[in-house]
Amino acid sequence: MKRTHHCNELRREHAGLTVTLTGWVHSRRDLGGVIFLDIRDREGRTQVVFDPSDLSPAVFEQAATLRPESVVQVTGTVRVRPEGTANPKIATGEVEVMARELAVLNHAEVLPFPVDDPEAASKVNEELRLKYRYLDLRRPEMLRNLRLRHQVATATRQYFDEQGFLEIETPMLFKSTPEGAREFLVPSRTNPGQFYALPQSPQQFKQILMVAGIERYFQLAKCFRDEDLRADRQPEFTQIDLEMSFIEREDIYRLIEGLLKRIWKVALGMDIPTPFPRIPFVEALNRWGIDKPDTRFALELADLTDVFRGSSFKVFSQAVADGGVVKALNAKGLACATQGQMDAFTELAKSMGAKGLAFIKVEGGEWKSPIVKFFTPAEKEALQARLGIEEGDLILFAAGPWLASCEILGKLRLYAAELLKQMGRLSIPADRFDFLWVVDFPLLSFDKEQNRWYSSHHPFTAPVAEDIPLLKTDPKQVRGQHYDVVVNGVELGGGSIRIHQPDVQKTIFEDILQIPPDIAQARFGYMLEAFRYGAPPHGGIALGFDRLIAILCGTSSIRDVIAFPKTAKGTCLMTNSPSAAEPRQLRELHLEVKLGRGHGAQAPKPPPAAGGA
Ligand code: AMO
Ligand code: AMP
Repeated sequence: MKRTHHCNELRREHAGLTVTLTGWVHSRRDLGGVIFLDIRDREGRTQVVFDPSDLSPAVFEQAATLRPESVVQVTGTVRVRPEGTANPKIATGEVEVMARELAVLNHAEVLPFPVDDPEAASKVNEELRLKYRYLDLRRPEMLRNLRLRHQVATATRQYFDEQGFLEIETPMLFKSTPEGAREFLVPSRTNPGQFYALPQSPQQFKQILMVAGIERYFQLAKCFRDEDLRADRQPEFTQIDLEMSFIEREDIYRLIEGLLKRIWKVALGMDIPTPFPRIPFVEALNRWGIDKPDTRFALELADLTDVFRGSSFKVFSQAVADGGVVKALNAKGLACATQGQMDAFTELAKSMGAKGLAFIKVEGGEWKSPIVKFFTPAEKEALQARLGIEEGDLILFAAGPWLASCEILGKLRLYAAELLKQMGRLSIPADRFDFLWVVDFPLLSFDKEQNRWYSSHHPFTAPVAEDIPLLKTDPKQVRGQHYDVVVNGVELGGGSIRIHQPDVQKTIFEDILQIPPDIAQARFGYMLEAFRYGAPPHGGIALGFDRLIAILCGTSSIRDVIAFPKTAKGTCLMTNSPSAAEPRQLRELHLEVKLGRGHGAQAPKPPPAAGGA
């Protein structure tokens, strides 16, 4: 070994010991002719002192010219730091190493950004961080994130092992099943003109594993989706994926509650209460206007449909006459919203399809609003009672179809909370985690443009048994045995009890989703066939592993918990991928690239002269 201890190991009791440390030069300070180096490795930091009165001039000279992040090996004697110079911020802060020998294992050039100062590092532009990811990952916060990720992965594997699950790998080269998110295609050289697809999830394989009698499967699975990216989405990401046979929804809830309890204990030392509340989809929309509610703050929506049925305010009464609803949000304390903020509320509502945004500001004991003049005293009284209106409140209304009206107010609610936070009127403790299950989702949603039903989750989700007869008569009312687990307004995971009867699955594909039989056969024929040879009832779930880690690390971007993430455009700035293929590769794959107008062709760079893997 090139070292005797790591950089977080030495304490008072090591005083007098000769030690060898290796690591990166975290910082160098020259004080009164003495050089202090902080040497850092993965575990921590130790102060090393180069005192010229106690050293060969050559060693001192070398130490004096070291640049930050150079890699060194230092041998010296541990001593307790002189009175008053201990550094309580680091674990080795009571001691220092009096250097005798120094070997520079590698010099570092001047860095594109500092890694020793968290304050400065947090201001570095993310593109630069991604280009020099290996430097970015040297920052203690990033290392902490990766370490936590590892610990949670280990705890997860251990938990599932205890619960009798087998971790089974499923293929990365899969078959194209283009109904979910857009896929990444992989051309096959040995099968000219044919393509694999990278899996969006192991969904079909895990169900087939149940038919194979595995009973309990899990995997930390890589998934690939060619979606438009956001802070919480990457084109390749990881799921904690699992499937079980002979179970009901409650079994999945209990299993996942146990897993999350374990993870929160391991990662944060916290005991989270279980079971989590179970909230039907309809209730979630009615109360919070979203199917992944953040329940850490109130601001719940109210329903006023009955109040405004037949009202002389036509915007509301017409919405009700058309079968819609009138919903309102009391954004408590936001009557002080500026014109700019009111415009932002209106823009937000309009971006979601609202024709306008009716509101009331309660200021100086008065309801200030362009619309209250249309309200009868009885209507006002009902508003007052349902919304608990007080001085300083801002009431926002949405009238129209139920789902859209709820969703508009759901968005406004989040914006209102954001404003209240900025004003210091809403504070949410960092260690508060509100978990819940959202259940009883509609099995199907209707696509007006394409005039057809599609699966709200995926086509393998089983209908709630008592709703099966409605499939043919009133598909909208059919609830799916689907569930999402939500924490603090983030959808952590989702899953369902699956269809295991081939005839029900065929009905869903062909009669409901209108997938022509030949296409259903080509895409899912093997599943339908597998189900004919004894498929057990089964169900499962997948949690977004990156999102889970981001929540535990308290970061809003999953890029901060992935070692080598892609940018919002799906590129890797460190390796410069994706990149053009060489003509030879394309020929072998029987492919030709034709770029449309506006997509400048990029000639591939010539291969490096020597080697390469
Ligand atoms: P679903 O598509 O809901 O379900 O995905 C499950 C969870 O995966 C996470 N997730 C993502 N994380 C990062 N980047 C992405 N692009 C991304 N997309 C999804 C989310 C989500 O809740 N096979 C089903 C599960 C099942 O039915 O068992 C599935 O994949 O946290
Ligand atoms: P109008 O009669 O169209 O001028 O609308 C009267 C008020 O109601 C205006 O403040 C509009 O912004 C608002 N408004 C219009 N349509 C809706 C709706 N669907 N939901 C809530 N408010 C609306």
